[in-house]
Amino acid sequence: MSSRVRRAAVALAAGVLISGVGVHASTMTASAQDSTLRAAAESSGRFVGTAINDSLLNNSTYRAIAEREFSSVTAENAMKWEAIEPNRGQYNWAGADRLMNFAAQNNQQVWGHVLVWHSQLPGWLDNGNFSGSELRSIMNNHIETFAGRYRGQVDRWEVVNEIFNEDGSFRDTIWLRGLGESYVEEAFRAARAADPNAKLFINDYNTDGINAKSDAMYRLVSNLVARGVPIDGVGFQSHMILGQVPSTYQQNLQRFADLGLEVAVTELDIRMNTPADSTRLQRQANEYASVTEACLAVSRCSGITVWGISDRDSWIPDWFQGEGAANLYDENYQPKPAYYAMREAFGGPGGGPGGGDNGGPGGNGGNDGGDNGGPGGPGTGECTANYDVTSRWDAGSVVELRVTTRQALTGWQVSFDLPAGVRVTNGWNANVTQSGNRVTATNADYNGNVGANGTLQFGFMTDSGQQYSAPAVSLNGVACSGS
Ligand code: G3I
Repeated sequence: MSSRVRRAAVALAAGVLISGVGVHASTMTASAQDSTLRAAAESSGRFVGTAINDSLLNNSTYRAIAEREFSSVTAENAMKWEAIEPNRGQYNWAGADRLMNFAAQNNQQVWGHVLVWHSQLPGWLDNGNFSGSELRSIMNNHIETFAGRYRGQVDRWEVVNEIFNEDGSFRDTIWLRGLGESYVEEAFRAARAADPNAKLFINDYNTDGINAKSDAMYRLVSNLVARGVPIDGVGFQSHMILGQVPSTYQQNLQRFADLGLEVAVTELDIRMNTPADSTRLQRQANEYASVTEACLAVSRCSGITVWGISDRDSWIPDWFQGEGAANLYDENYQPKPAYYAMREAFGGPGGGPGGGDNGGPGGNGGNDGGDNGGPGGPGTGECTANYDVTSRWDAGSVVELRVTTRQALTGWQVSFDLPAGVRVTNGWNANVTQSGNRVTATNADYNGNVGANGTLQFGFMTDSGQQYSAPAVSLNGVACSGS
């Protein structure tokens, strides 16, 4: 079954990420399992995570969503210093252990939040007036004990968090005052020693677009990389306000990725004035999709963690009076348009509830004059191709291509022709090359095996915003039908 689902063309305010234009032709038959956010993210080779509130794990609705929809978990509070070492030398692992066990039971990755931060420190540490050498040993000991306890079980440690002021200067914290700026690299070295195979991240908020703070992060991280400090990635919290997704979001992720580092979105939420209305919820959906598309367009972007499950449990209303509705699920744990939009952006089924092409909240208004979605050649019945321009602007576009194969594959090559003058600039989840008009995409090391009736998926960017019909696509030299 195929259908056309109109995607967003809600005009975003000037200066925000332009995305979601284009007409999406999609195949929509999906099993219940395939229609989760988690399955969609996994099909794009990305994780999708959430922050887990330890006290809600015994709520069966909350727990079921956390298990089913997410492939990564972060402790919202249970791994912070005040929770783990409330008194000096006295550790309380109960909440952290619960999170680790939950992740293991559900085959989820763990994001270790957080080793060194200035906030949510226990009183003995915050008010301790320790000498530099004592502070150094406290910090190193905490890292060694905490990261050492979960050695080999945490995929990514957030080694330092929120070290910058908005102007890019170092934040005045007990760590800076006691140890100077070098505490950052010292923490990374201690973390590597404690848990050698985990990926080590620096993390911050308001570094999502290009600005003074992210420039400072970029300078610091470049310097750490150049000097061989063991850093593997940069996290972008992405606590955002509706209508203010930075226009430079993708470009910013890309510049850090170009340093050879992994990048990840670590605490995504998009808040609005409450009560929410359908227009704002739809706009929020478009923005969740835009952030997802930006991550997918950066091959080193490993995934996205959203900060909490529902609007009921979010930190926002407590911190920003009159604001909220920032998450993927509403106060009754019902998925919002943002959920469907994010799932679709990850390559999952479009439409609304049920995962079908039923024109639910995930289908958006707008019209781009009808590009792509053409018939795509006569086909052989061996494969079905779904060529989807997920975003387009003056001088570029993002394309997601999904091919369903009748027979199992142990390696694949997909080819098609682009119109004259349209050049591929980069690709992900495949090695994408171009010769003249012909584009050839060969599987990456990790996605060459596709089962019978399975779907392979990859994406690429072009340097042109021109509209065109979906090209005829071949899989391993055999023409596919279009969907
Ligand atoms: O633990 C106390 C409890 O004993 C007390 O009875 C209760 C009364 O209010 O407060 C409890 O502490 C709360 C704490 O979470 C643990 O649940 C604090 O009030 C509350 O302010 C605190 O908020 C957390 C906040 O970090 C603190 O910085 C939020 O839940 C959490 O979502 C938020 O997460 C941070 C990330 O860690 C870092 N990036 C920003 C993000 C949002 O602020």
